[in-house]
Amino acid sequence: MSGVSERKLVILTGANSGLGFEVLKQLLNQQTPYHIILAVRNIHQTEVKIKSIVPSHQLVEILKLDLSSLTSVKSFTQSILSRKPPLHVNILILNAGVVKATLTETEDGFEQTFQVNHLANVILVYELLPRLTESGPDSKIILVNSSLHKPGTGAKEHGENRPIMDIENLNGSKMYSPLLFYRNSKLAQVFFGYYLDKLLNKKGEKERKVDVLIVEPGFCPTTELARESGIFTKLFLKYILSWAPFTKTPDQGGAVISYAATSPELKNKSGIYINKSCQIDRSSDESYDEEKQTFWWKTSCDLLGIEEDWSGLIFNQNEILN
Ligand SMILES: NC(=O)c1ccc[n+]([C@@H]2O[C@H](COP(=O)([O-])OP(=O)(O)OC[C@H]3O[C@@H](n4cnc5c(N)ncnc54)[C@H](OP(=O)(O)O)[C@@H]3O)[C@@H](O)[C@H]2O)c1
Repeated sequence: MSGVSERKLVILTGANSGLGFEVLKQLLNQQTPYHIILAVRNIHQTEVKIKSIVPSHQLVEILKLDLSSLTSVKSFTQSILSRKPPLHVNILILNAGVVKATLTETEDGFEQTFQVNHLANVILVYELLPRLTESGPDSKIILVNSSLHKPGTGAKEHGENRPIMDIENLNGSKMYSPLLFYRNSKLAQVFFGYYLDKLLNKKGEKERKVDVLIVEPGFCPTTELARESGIFTKLFLKYILSWAPFTKTPDQGGAVISYAATSPELKNKSGIYINKSCQIDRSSDESYDEEKQTFWWKTSCDLLGIEEDWSGLIFNQNEILN
Protein backbone atom coordinates (compact mmCIF):
# COMPACT_ATOMS: atom_id res chain seq x y z
CA MET A 1 0.00 0.00 0.00
CA SER A 2 1.26 3.53 -0.76
CA GLY A 3 2.32 5.76 2.08
CA VAL A 4 0.37 8.97 2.68
CA SER A 5 2.84 11.14 0.75
CA GLU A 6 2.68 9.01 -2.43
CA ARG A 7 -1.04 9.33 -2.58
CA LYS A 8 -3.08 12.04 -4.23
CA LEU A 9 -4.70 14.01 -1.46
CA VAL A 10 -8.36 14.80 -2.02
CA ILE A 11 -10.50 16.92 0.28
CA LEU A 12 -14.21 16.31 -0.25
CA THR A 13 -16.86 18.37 1.54
CA GLY A 14 -20.34 16.97 2.12
CA ALA A 15 -19.05 13.43 1.65
CA ASN A 16 -21.59 11.76 3.92
CA SER A 17 -24.67 12.21 1.78
CA GLY A 18 -26.13 12.50 -1.72
CA LEU A 19 -23.72 13.36 -4.51
CA GLY A 20 -20.71 13.68 -2.19
CA PHE A 21 -21.13 10.09 -0.99
CA GLU A 22 -21.38 8.90 -4.59
CA VAL A 23 -18.20 10.80 -5.50
CA LEU A 24 -16.49 9.14 -2.55
CA LYS A 25 -17.53 5.65 -3.70
CA GLN A 26 -16.36 6.38 -7.23
CA LEU A 27 -12.95 7.64 -6.07
CA LEU A 28 -12.52 4.64 -3.80
CA ASN A 29 -13.12 2.31 -6.74
CA GLN A 30 -10.36 3.84 -8.82
CA GLN A 31 -6.93 2.18 -9.07
CA THR A 32 -5.21 5.46 -8.14
CA PRO A 33 -4.34 5.37 -4.45
CA TYR A 34 -5.92 8.36 -2.74
CA HIS A 35 -5.78 9.87 0.69
CA ILE A 36 -9.32 11.24 0.93
CA ILE A 37 -10.21 13.64 3.71
CA LEU A 38 -13.95 13.68 4.26
CA ALA A 39 -14.91 17.08 5.60
CA VAL A 40 -18.27 16.59 7.30
CA ARG A 41 -20.46 17.83 10.11
CA ASN A 42 -21.20 14.44 11.64
CA ILE A 43 -18.09 12.32 12.12
CA HIS A 44 -19.79 9.35 13.78
CA GLN A 45 -22.53 9.05 11.15
CA THR A 46 -19.87 9.21 8.42
CA GLU A 47 -17.74 6.53 10.11
CA VAL A 48 -20.72 4.19 10.20
CA LYS A 49 -21.59 4.94 6.59
CA ILE A 50 -18.14 4.29 5.12
CA LYS A 51 -17.24 1.33 7.37
CA SER A 52 -17.49 -1.37 4.74
CA ILE A 53 -16.73 0.52 1.55
CA VAL A 54 -13.05 1.49 1.85
CA PRO A 55 -10.83 -0.91 -0.12
CA SER A 56 -7.38 -1.71 1.26
CA HIS A 57 -5.51 0.43 -1.30
CA GLN A 58 -7.35 3.61 -0.26
CA LEU A 59 -6.86 5.79 2.79
CA VAL A 60 -9.78 7.73 4.23
CA GLU A 61 -9.79 10.21 7.08
CA ILE A 62 -12.76 12.04 8.53
CA LEU A 63 -12.51 15.59 9.82
CA LYS A 64 -15.14 17.87 11.28
CA LEU A 65 -16.26 20.81 9.14
CA ASP A 66 -19.35 22.92 9.60
CA LEU A 67 -19.50 25.52 6.87
CA SER A 68 -22.08 27.54 8.77
CA SER A 69 -19.39 28.41 11.32
CA LEU A 70 -16.27 30.27 10.24
CA THR A 71 -14.66 29.10 13.50
CA SER A 72 -15.23 25.51 12.40
CA VAL A 73 -13.82 26.28 8.94
CA LYS A 74 -10.75 27.80 10.59
CA SER A 75 -10.17 24.77 12.85
CA PHE A 76 -10.59 22.48 9.86
CA THR A 77 -7.99 24.34 7.79
CA GLN A 78 -5.69 24.59 10.82
CA SER A 79 -5.80 20.83 11.26
CA ILE A 80 -4.69 20.45 7.63
CA LEU A 81 -2.07 23.22 7.73
CA SER A 82 -0.49 22.08 11.00
CA ARG A 83 0.31 18.52 9.81
CA LYS A 84 3.90 17.37 9.82
CA PRO A 85 5.08 16.43 7.25
CA PRO A 86 2.97 19.03 5.40
CA LEU A 87 -0.10 17.84 3.56
CA HIS A 88 -0.16 18.92 -0.07
CA VAL A 89 -3.65 19.11 -1.44
CA ASN A 90 -4.13 17.75 -4.98
CA ILE A 91 -7.89 17.98 -5.39
CA LEU A 92 -10.28 20.12 -3.38
CA ILE A 93 -13.90 19.19 -4.08
CA LEU A 94 -16.28 21.78 -2.69
CA ASN A 95 -19.48 19.81 -2.88
CA ALA A 96 -21.37 20.52 0.36
CA GLY A 97 -24.42 22.68 -0.14
CA VAL A 98 -27.72 23.57 1.35
CA VAL A 99 -31.18 24.95 0.61
CA LYS A 100 -32.75 26.60 3.66
CA ALA A 101 -36.54 26.53 3.84
CA THR A 102 -36.61 29.56 6.13
CA LEU A 103 -34.34 32.53 6.58
CA THR A 104 -31.56 31.40 8.94
CA GLU A 105 -28.63 33.42 10.21
CA THR A 106 -25.31 31.74 10.91
CA GLU A 107 -23.32 32.41 14.08
CA ASP A 108 -21.20 34.71 11.89
CA GLY A 109 -24.21 36.84 11.01
CA PHE A 110 -24.62 35.79 7.37
CA GLU A 111 -27.62 34.26 5.67
CA GLN A 112 -26.95 30.52 5.86
CA THR A 113 -27.24 29.57 2.15
CA PHE A 114 -24.86 32.34 1.13
CA GLN A 115 -22.33 31.34 3.79
CA VAL A 116 -22.47 27.54 3.33
CA ASN A 117 -22.64 27.51 -0.48
CA HIS A 118 -20.31 30.42 -1.15
CA LEU A 119 -18.54 32.41 1.58
CA ALA A 120 -17.22 29.42 3.53
CA ASN A 121 -15.83 27.97 0.30
CA VAL A 122 -14.01 31.24 -0.38
CA ILE A 123 -12.28 31.05 2.99
CA LEU A 124 -11.49 27.34 2.53
CA VAL A 125 -9.81 28.09 -0.78
CA TYR A 126 -8.05 31.14 0.68
CA GLU A 127 -6.56 29.09 3.52
CA LEU A 128 -5.69 26.01 1.47
CA LEU A 129 -4.50 27.69 -1.74
CA PRO A 130 -0.79 27.64 -0.77
CA ARG A 131 -1.09 23.87 -0.22
CA LEU A 132 -2.71 23.47 -3.62
CA THR A 133 -0.14 25.60 -5.44
CA GLU A 134 2.70 23.63 -3.80
CA SER A 135 1.16 20.42 -5.16
CA GLY A 136 0.85 21.88 -8.68
CA PRO A 137 0.83 21.86 -11.63
CA ASP A 138 -1.99 19.29 -11.64
CA SER A 139 -3.93 20.35 -8.59
CA LYS A 140 -7.58 21.23 -8.90
CA ILE A 141 -10.43 23.00 -7.25
CA ILE A 142 -13.86 21.65 -8.10
CA LEU A 143 -16.79 23.95 -7.38
CA VAL A 144 -20.01 21.96 -7.38
CA ASN A 145 -22.54 24.28 -8.94
CA SER A 146 -26.00 24.08 -10.46
CA SER A 147 -27.76 25.08 -13.68
CA LEU A 148 -30.00 27.05 -11.32
CA HIS A 149 -27.39 29.81 -11.32
CA LYS A 150 -28.68 30.59 -14.83
CA PRO A 151 -31.75 32.68 -15.56
CA GLY A 152 -34.75 30.89 -16.97
CA THR A 153 -34.15 27.58 -15.24
CA GLY A 154 -36.22 26.25 -12.37
CA ALA A 155 -39.39 27.64 -10.84
CA LYS A 156 -40.31 31.30 -10.92
CA GLU A 157 -39.84 32.92 -7.57
CA HIS A 158 -41.39 36.21 -6.57
CA GLY A 159 -42.08 37.07 -10.18
CA GLU A 160 -38.40 36.62 -11.11
CA ASN A 161 -37.03 33.61 -12.87
CA ARG A 162 -33.45 34.67 -12.64
CA PRO A 163 -30.94 34.93 -9.83
CA ILE A 164 -30.54 38.57 -8.76
CA MET A 165 -27.72 39.16 -6.39
CA ASP A 166 -28.69 42.14 -4.33
CA ILE A 167 -25.96 43.57 -2.14
CA GLU A 168 -28.69 45.30 -0.07
CA ASN A 169 -30.44 42.00 0.65
CA LEU A 170 -27.63 39.51 1.27
CA ASN A 171 -29.02 38.83 4.73
CA GLY A 172 -32.60 38.42 3.49
CA SER A 173 -33.91 41.36 5.51
CA LYS A 174 -35.88 42.79 2.55
CA MET A 175 -37.13 39.47 1.19
CA TYR A 176 -36.25 35.78 1.50
CA SER A 177 -36.96 32.94 -0.87
CA PRO A 178 -35.19 29.54 -0.47
CA LEU A 179 -34.78 28.94 -4.19
CA LEU A 180 -33.70 32.47 -5.05
CA PHE A 181 -31.08 32.50 -2.31
CA TYR A 182 -29.83 29.08 -3.43
CA ARG A 183 -29.56 30.33 -7.01
CA ASN A 184 -27.78 33.49 -5.92
CA SER A 185 -25.27 31.51 -3.87
CA LYS A 186 -24.49 29.38 -6.92
CA LEU A 187 -24.12 32.46 -9.13
CA ALA A 188 -21.74 33.93 -6.54
CA GLN A 189 -19.77 30.69 -6.76
CA VAL A 190 -19.44 30.95 -10.56
CA PHE A 191 -18.25 34.58 -10.31
CA PHE A 192 -15.72 33.43 -7.70
CA GLY A 193 -14.48 30.51 -9.83
CA TYR A 194 -13.82 32.65 -12.91
CA TYR A 195 -12.12 35.43 -10.95
CA LEU A 196 -9.92 32.91 -9.14
CA ASP A 197 -8.99 31.28 -12.44
CA LYS A 198 -7.87 34.65 -13.80
CA LEU A 199 -5.65 35.21 -10.77
CA LEU A 200 -4.10 31.78 -11.15
CA ASN A 201 -3.49 32.50 -14.84
CA LYS A 202 -1.74 35.81 -14.21
CA LYS A 203 1.67 34.46 -15.23
CA GLY A 204 0.26 32.69 -18.27
CA GLU A 205 -1.44 29.36 -18.67
CA LYS A 206 1.81 27.40 -18.67
CA GLU A 207 2.69 28.70 -15.23
CA ARG A 208 -0.71 27.97 -13.72
CA LYS A 209 -0.40 25.67 -10.73
CA VAL A 210 -4.04 25.05 -9.92
CA ASP A 211 -7.05 24.44 -12.19
CA VAL A 212 -10.53 25.65 -11.30
CA LEU A 213 -13.51 23.75 -12.64
CA ILE A 214 -17.14 24.65 -12.10
CA VAL A 215 -19.39 21.62 -12.33
CA GLU A 216 -23.12 21.17 -12.83
CA PRO A 217 -24.04 17.60 -11.79
CA GLY A 218 -27.61 17.72 -13.16
CA PHE A 219 -30.91 17.47 -11.35
CA CYS A 220 -30.80 14.54 -8.90
CA PRO A 221 -34.09 14.69 -6.95
CA THR A 222 -33.39 11.77 -4.61
CA THR A 223 -30.54 13.35 -2.65
CA GLU A 224 -31.19 15.07 0.68
CA LEU A 225 -30.94 18.59 -0.75
CA ALA A 226 -34.68 19.20 -0.34
CA ARG A 227 -34.67 17.79 3.20
CA GLU A 228 -36.27 20.94 4.62
CA SER A 229 -39.13 20.93 2.11
CA GLY A 230 -42.64 19.87 3.04
CA ILE A 231 -43.61 16.21 2.93
CA PHE A 232 -45.50 16.55 -0.38
CA THR A 233 -42.55 18.15 -2.15
CA LYS A 234 -40.26 15.43 -0.82
CA LEU A 235 -42.58 12.64 -1.95
CA PHE A 236 -43.00 14.31 -5.33
CA LEU A 237 -39.23 14.63 -5.80
CA LYS A 238 -38.41 11.11 -4.63
CA TYR A 239 -41.21 9.08 -6.14
CA ILE A 240 -42.53 11.05 -9.12
CA LEU A 241 -39.92 13.47 -10.43
CA SER A 242 -37.15 10.90 -10.10
CA TRP A 243 -38.81 9.00 -12.99
CA ALA A 244 -38.65 12.00 -15.31
CA PRO A 245 -36.19 11.52 -18.19
CA PHE A 246 -34.36 14.80 -17.45
CA THR A 247 -33.44 13.76 -13.90
CA LYS A 248 -30.42 11.79 -12.76
CA THR A 249 -29.66 9.32 -10.02
CA PRO A 250 -27.15 10.41 -7.37
CA ASP A 251 -24.51 8.08 -8.80
CA GLN A 252 -24.96 9.67 -12.25
CA GLY A 253 -24.67 13.16 -10.73
CA GLY A 254 -21.68 12.06 -8.66
CA ALA A 255 -20.05 10.68 -11.81
CA VAL A 256 -20.02 14.17 -13.37
CA ILE A 257 -18.19 15.52 -10.31
CA SER A 258 -15.66 12.68 -10.20
CA TYR A 259 -15.12 13.03 -13.96
CA ALA A 260 -14.29 16.72 -13.48
CA ALA A 261 -12.00 15.88 -10.56
CA THR A 262 -10.03 13.02 -12.08
CA SER A 263 -10.44 12.68 -15.84
CA PRO A 264 -7.15 13.01 -17.78
CA GLU A 265 -9.22 14.61 -20.58
CA LEU A 266 -9.55 17.73 -18.44
CA LYS A 267 -5.89 17.97 -17.50
CA ASN A 268 -4.69 21.59 -17.54
CA LYS A 269 -8.14 22.91 -18.36
CA SER A 270 -9.23 25.69 -16.06
CA GLY A 271 -11.86 28.39 -15.76
CA ILE A 272 -14.32 26.04 -17.41
CA TYR A 273 -17.91 25.03 -16.74
CA ILE A 274 -18.72 21.32 -17.04
CA ASN A 275 -22.36 20.49 -17.69
CA LYS A 276 -24.37 17.48 -16.57
CA SER A 277 -23.26 15.55 -19.69
CA CYS A 278 -19.59 16.02 -18.80
CA GLN A 279 -19.17 18.53 -21.62
CA ILE A 280 -17.43 21.88 -21.43
CA ASP A 281 -20.27 24.37 -21.72
CA ARG A 282 -21.17 27.98 -21.10
CA SER A 283 -22.41 29.12 -17.74
CA SER A 284 -24.89 32.00 -17.66
CA ASP A 285 -24.03 35.06 -19.78
CA GLU A 286 -24.05 37.18 -16.63
CA SER A 287 -21.40 35.00 -14.98
CA TYR A 288 -18.82 36.16 -17.57
CA ASP A 289 -19.33 39.82 -16.61
CA GLU A 290 -15.89 40.77 -15.34
CA GLU A 291 -17.13 43.79 -13.43
CA LYS A 292 -19.54 41.61 -11.51
CA GLN A 293 -16.88 38.96 -10.91
CA THR A 294 -14.61 41.65 -9.46
CA PHE A 295 -17.39 43.24 -7.44
CA TRP A 296 -18.42 39.96 -5.82
CA TRP A 297 -14.81 38.92 -5.25
CA LYS A 298 -14.15 42.15 -3.38
CA THR A 299 -17.44 41.95 -1.52
CA SER A 300 -16.77 38.35 -0.43
CA CYS A 301 -13.25 39.21 0.75
CA ASP A 302 -14.56 42.27 2.62
CA LEU A 303 -17.30 40.28 4.32
CA LEU A 304 -14.76 37.66 5.38
CA GLY A 305 -12.21 40.26 6.49
CA ILE A 306 -9.48 38.90 4.20
CA GLU A 307 -7.21 40.66 1.71
CA GLU A 308 -8.47 41.07 -1.87
CA ASP A 309 -5.06 40.47 -3.39
CA TRP A 310 -4.24 36.77 -3.19
CA SER A 311 -0.99 36.94 -5.19
CA GLY A 312 1.05 36.05 -2.12
CA LEU A 313 -0.90 32.80 -1.76
CA ILE A 314 -0.27 31.81 -5.36
CA PHE A 315 3.17 33.06 -6.30
CA ASN A 316 6.47 33.11 -4.44
CA GLN A 317 8.41 36.37 -3.96
CA ASN A 318 10.44 35.88 -7.16
CA GLU A 319 7.36 35.22 -9.21
CA ILE A 320 5.64 38.30 -7.78
CA LEU A 321 8.63 40.52 -8.63
CA ASN A 322 9.08 39.16 -12.18
N1 LIG B 1 -29.27 17.20 -6.01
C1 LIG B 1 -29.33 18.01 -7.07
O1 LIG B 1 -30.24 17.95 -7.89
C2 LIG B 1 -28.24 19.01 -7.29
C3 LIG B 1 -28.22 19.69 -8.54
C4 LIG B 1 -27.23 20.63 -8.77
C5 LIG B 1 -26.28 20.87 -7.81
N2 LIG B 1 -26.33 20.20 -6.62
C6 LIG B 1 -25.29 20.50 -5.63
O2 LIG B 1 -24.67 19.30 -5.26
C7 LIG B 1 -24.11 19.45 -3.96
C8 LIG B 1 -24.48 18.25 -3.10
O3 LIG B 1 -25.88 18.28 -2.88
P1 LIG B 1 -26.76 16.96 -2.74
O4 LIG B 1 -27.81 17.03 -3.76
O5 LIG B 1 -25.90 15.77 -2.65
O6 LIG B 1 -27.49 17.24 -1.35
P2 LIG B 1 -27.36 16.51 0.07
O7 LIG B 1 -27.65 15.06 -0.06
O8 LIG B 1 -28.23 17.31 0.98
O9 LIG B 1 -25.85 16.71 0.46
C9 LIG B 1 -25.38 17.96 0.89
C10 LIG B 1 -24.13 17.76 1.69
O10 LIG B 1 -23.71 19.05 2.17
C11 LIG B 1 -23.48 18.95 3.56
N3 LIG B 1 -23.70 20.19 4.27
C12 LIG B 1 -24.83 20.92 4.35
N4 LIG B 1 -24.66 21.96 5.19
C13 LIG B 1 -23.39 21.87 5.65
C14 LIG B 1 -22.63 22.62 6.55
N5 LIG B 1 -23.14 23.69 7.19
N6 LIG B 1 -21.36 22.25 6.80
C15 LIG B 1 -20.83 21.17 6.19
N7 LIG B 1 -21.50 20.40 5.33
C16 LIG B 1 -22.78 20.74 5.07
C17 LIG B 1 -24.47 17.91 4.05
O11 LIG B 1 -24.06 17.42 5.31
P3 LIG B 1 -25.14 16.96 6.42
O12 LIG B 1 -25.57 15.59 6.00
O13 LIG B 1 -24.41 17.03 7.70
O14 LIG B 1 -26.27 17.95 6.35
C18 LIG B 1 -24.36 16.88 2.93
O15 LIG B 1 -23.25 16.07 3.11
C19 LIG B 1 -24.64 20.77 -3.43
O16 LIG B 1 -23.64 21.76 -3.58
C20 LIG B 1 -25.80 21.07 -4.34
O17 LIG B 1 -26.04 22.45 -4.43
C21 LIG B 1 -27.28 19.27 -6.35
